[in-house]
Amino acid sequence: MVEKFKTKPSLFLTRNLPGNGVEKLSEYFDVSVNPEDRVLEKNEIISHIRDKEALLCLLTDTIDKDVIQAAPRLKVISNYAVGFNNIDIIEATHRKIPVCITPGILTDTTADLTWALILAVTRRIIEADAFTRNGLFTGWSPSLFLGLDVSQKTLGIVGLGRIGAAVAKRASGFDMKVIYSSRSKKEMVGAEQVSLETLLKTADIISLHVPLTKETHHLIDEHQFQLMKKTAYLINTTRGAVVKESALLNALKKGEILGAGLDVYENEPQILEGLTALPNVVLLPHIGSATYETRTKMALLAADNAIAIIKGQKPHAIANPEVL
Ligand code: NAP
Ligand code: GLV
Ligand code: GLV
Repeated sequence: MVEKFKTKPSLFLTRNLPGNGVEKLSEYFDVSVNPEDRVLEKNEIISHIRDKEALLCLLTDTIDKDVIQAAPRLKVISNYAVGFNNIDIIEATHRKIPVCITPGILTDTTADLTWALILAVTRRIIEADAFTRNGLFTGWSPSLFLGLDVSQKTLGIVGLGRIGAAVAKRASGFDMKVIYSSRSKKEMVGAEQVSLETLLKTADIISLHVPLTKETHHLIDEHQFQLMKKTAYLINTTRGAVVKESALLNALKKGEILGAGLDVYENEPQILEGLTALPNVVLLPHIGSATYETRTKMALLAADNAIAIIKGQKPHAIANPEVL
């Protein structure tokens, strides 16, 4: 019998997305979407993708060897994120499955949030807001909520990639000196490359922007906190496990550093007990890229990436280009 309609390849989307990404996907794929607005368990993902040709997943989904091996027809994994530490890239590459990501479009949004954390922690914005709401403001006072200046200070960027560079660029408005550590030298006027050790010893604000890899796992542990100035602040908007969270808690308690601003955690969504009780940390629920504009663009880009692969074209961004 002659096939009347060419059937579309099947795609599983692990969670509904903002914007028109799903409609766009539906032009090219037979899309099934997790009907519930929650993170799926690994076995649930497996049961959904057994017969699928494409997967559009989130950074909260563990796409490990078991998951990839359970989907013999899989031709593309499109991650709704720039970070791809949630995916077993070695297994995907072994299977010649492209892993696509969403870099660039979320850079400014995430850099802005990084700055929101820097200013919130150094100027004690969250504490001061709670104080005011609680009716405790009885008048201007010379020593009410003293923080530390960021202007004229040194910003240390660990990993001067897209987001690190955008955070550094914003520092020029605060007349800051910018130093950075990266494995390779970057072209950025006014930013000086130093070793990680020098950065940790001299920066007033240390902001982490390396991807989470085997090499960067617990890049910041007890030893690194001991190198930091007692007046330093640590900002983490990359991935929680770049920092050993228990060492961070101890450093904050012992006064080895002055404060921290976190958007990410080692075992999300869990937060190490004790951290939430400290007044000198600002804790956000992984909202680095969370603006209407950016999340909408990410959905379109993640959709475009999957569509490009299925059409045999080059995707906008791929984490394992060697498979193409
Ligand atoms: P990127 O452009 O690839 O930048 C990462 C930089 O880290 C690169 O310049 C790289 O330079 C450097 N690097 C890699 N390994 C390193 C190491 N071992 N030591 C020192 N530097 C190292 O990535 P991006 O777009 O800026 O994104 C960075 C990360 O931000 C993502 O991986 C993601 O985890 C996170 N993120 C978080 C949010 C959020 O919501 N909080 C939003 C977006 C992204 P070299 O190769 O020269 O070392
Ligand atoms: C967010 O954390 C991302 O990696 O895009
Ligand atoms: C503060 O409000 C000032 O006028 O210095």
